[in-house]
Amino acid sequence: MNKINIGIVGLGRMGQTHARNIVVNIPEANLYAACSVAEIEFEYAKREFGVKELYQNFEEMIENPNIDAVIIASPSGFHTEQIRLAMEKGLHVFSEKPIGLDIEDIKETIKIIDSHPNQIFQLGFMRRYDESYQYAKKLVDEGILGELTLIRCYGIDPSTELESFVKFATSSNSGGLFSDMSVHDIDLVRWFSGQEIKRVWALGKNAAYPELDELGELETGAAMMQLKDETMAILVAGRNAVHGYHVETELIGTKGMLRIAQQPEKNLVTIFNEQGIVRPTTQNFPERFREAFIREMKEFVSCIIDGRQPNVTANDGLQSTKVALACQKSIKTKQLIDVE
Ligand SMILES: NC(=O)c1ccc[n+]([C@@H]2O[C@H](COP(=O)([O-])OP(=O)(O)OC[C@H]3O[C@@H](n4cnc5c(N)ncnc54)[C@H](O)[C@@H]3O)[C@@H](O)[C@H]2O)c1
Repeated sequence: MNKINIGIVGLGRMGQTHARNIVVNIPEANLYAACSVAEIEFEYAKREFGVKELYQNFEEMIENPNIDAVIIASPSGFHTEQIRLAMEKGLHVFSEKPIGLDIEDIKETIKIIDSHPNQIFQLGFMRRYDESYQYAKKLVDEGILGELTLIRCYGIDPSTELESFVKFATSSNSGGLFSDMSVHDIDLVRWFSGQEIKRVWALGKNAAYPELDELGELETGAAMMQLKDETMAILVAGRNAVHGYHVETELIGTKGMLRIAQQPEKNLVTIFNEQGIVRPTTQNFPERFREAFIREMKEFVSCIIDGRQPNVTANDGLQSTKVALACQKSIKTKQLIDVE
């Protein structure tokens, strides 16, 4: 069978991870083309991955008849339009989260996705492909925790990434802390509980980086949520974890509790020195979710080969963005918000 020719749009922090995974880990696929608005990234794509077909315009890239599928890793505000264009060109689509930033626009996009049922669509909720999260999900589904009562999630970027985040948020619309960061946790809450979220109350504070005020961005935010069956969720999102990349999830049920990555350790090394007992921390998302990013891309390519749709759907993107936007609205209005 011929390799699946992939065109990637966006060669920034996320795009580079996907590009490398295709080249190094997915023998059934070929990184055939890349699209970016930054010249320097073309040099990188040629040098690192040997990509020959380089474009500054997405619509031009998808005109290339040799492309079978696209990976969308452009800034979040471009996702819906690029998904629609690629779907209408007959291509399979993997899109980074969030699926979009506006509910009506996402709904229109889902109509187009649904009208092409033979093309694969997958959304980048890679945590669902992480081994620990999959193991925990299996235990929860088997009933080890009894009935869930509360889910607590931390998703905090390292402060070392703040400069690059400010650049990202200055040049494009991140969608805000909840759409950008918490969508992963919102998706986990929905995935673990099998429930939709019906009500949210969110708060935020800029303390270490007041310059984020100017960008309309938050450094730390928290949201309390109620699910349809009255299960509760507490989400903390932030951009200022001084020790590294902190993603942690806790599930509490009637028969017990379960934690995933309670301490976000880099590996099994423990250092004993003048600071005491030191466990190095995972430093960024490509490091913490390295295997999950590979596994989600393998799933995308397998789905194309097998002609089946992946478990992470466009509707998961719609529902998570709905909740994230309700959190943004709650911050703005200081009110408890019912999710539509
Ligand atoms: N799954 C995850 O954990 C995760 C982590 C980080 C980022 N993301 C998502 O990935 C996307 C990209 O984020 P990033 O951090 O890599 O951003 P980035 O700023 O590092 O990179 C953006 C890339 O898009 C390109 N680009 C910008 N405008 C474009 C346009 N009009 N046409 C074509 N290319 C264009 C830029 O040249 C750059 O290559 C965002 O939607 C973000 O939410 C997901």
